[in-house]
Amino acid sequence: MKWDNRLTELLGCKYPIMQGALTGVGTWEFAAACSNAGADGCITAAVYKTPEKLREAIKQIRTVTSHFTVNVSIGACPNIDGMFDVCFEEQIPVLETAIYRPDEYVDRIKQSGVKWIHKGATVGFCKHAEDMGADAVVLIGIEGFGIKNIRQIPTFTSLCWARDQIGVPLLIGGGIGNGRTMAAALAAGADGVYIGSAIMATHECPISERVKQNMILAQPDEPYRIRELIAPPDPEAYAELMAKRDSMDLNKWIRLVEATFLKLKDKKKSKGEKTIWEEGAEGLGEDPFAEGSTKGPFSFACAYINQIVSVQTFIDNMVKEAEDLFQTFARRHQLTS
Ligand SMILES: Cc1cc2nc3c(=O)[nH]c(=O)nc-3n(C[C@H](O)[C@H](O)[C@H](O)COP(=O)(O)O)c2cc1C
Repeated sequence: MKWDNRLTELLGCKYPIMQGALTGVGTWEFAAACSNAGADGCITAAVYKTPEKLREAIKQIRTVTSHFTVNVSIGACPNIDGMFDVCFEEQIPVLETAIYRPDEYVDRIKQSGVKWIHKGATVGFCKHAEDMGADAVVLIGIEGFGIKNIRQIPTFTSLCWARDQIGVPLLIGGGIGNGRTMAAALAAGADGVYIGSAIMATHECPISERVKQNMILAQPDEPYRIRELIAPPDPEAYAELMAKRDSMDLNKWIRLVEATFLKLKDKKKSKGEKTIWEEGAEGLGEDPFAEGSTKGPFSFACAYINQIVSVQTFIDNMVKEAEDLFQTFARRHQLTS
């Protein structure tokens, strides 16, 4: 089966699959493994903290692959202006912005000539990015891991609603993690799929082995997980947050959003511990994700994780499963090409 489409053309990869941005985890080595397995690997600029370290990572990944993306998460990535400068100076293949609205950076991005993808949690945010000139957009449904938005809705409803409104290539993420979810997303009109959690269950991913094992043990319907991932934020806390928004520094505001919606910061802080966001990759392996626990920074996509494999096997299995499903469907329903 041929997988080429306008998204693979834009990203320069074999399959319409993109590795998601991963703070603390999205190193150039991991992105390279994803790109070399046929997907589009994504370096998360925040991992490198300084523009010069990011530049070094970009030089390194270029020694092993020509196609990759760099995610600059607005409001969460330190030294953001310098990070953008490095992406433009190095003329990276694709830039992904995310988390906060990109408006103040759009002129510089467009002038740089670098291809630009924006990731949003609502159809409205993605439409806005398309209107501002994004070459593609990534839409994340509520099943995904990450900062929640009060208007975020489930992945497949988001996709089907967005497809009629968005003209540029559309990637869908949030609970995507196997061939079945990939086939369903493409059949429903996505140009590609975007995977954060599930692709961490691979040997090359630098997240701790404990978190990987927790992904195998975890069930998507555990009340803890549902509360953390899907429960809408407390309306009072949300109103309080929004009231403070304009008077707050952007970085501080985003951290507060995280605390309010995912409650990671507050819970750990109350125990006098650093949060995973403060500790980076080392912190991800520490309590509260201890052995035997099913907790961890991952989404409902844990539903499909039952082994830790290489990135190549993960991608191959996913593509093969999707191909088999399409072929079975075509045979069963006597579709001819
Ligand atoms: C550990 C972890 C760290 C993440 N860090 C970022 C980040 O820094 N910036 C960002 O835009 N998204 C981040 N995400 C979100 C993913 O890029 C992606 O949108 C999300 O994981 C998709 O849903 P899924 O987890 O169901 O695949 C992170 C996700 C995880 C699991």
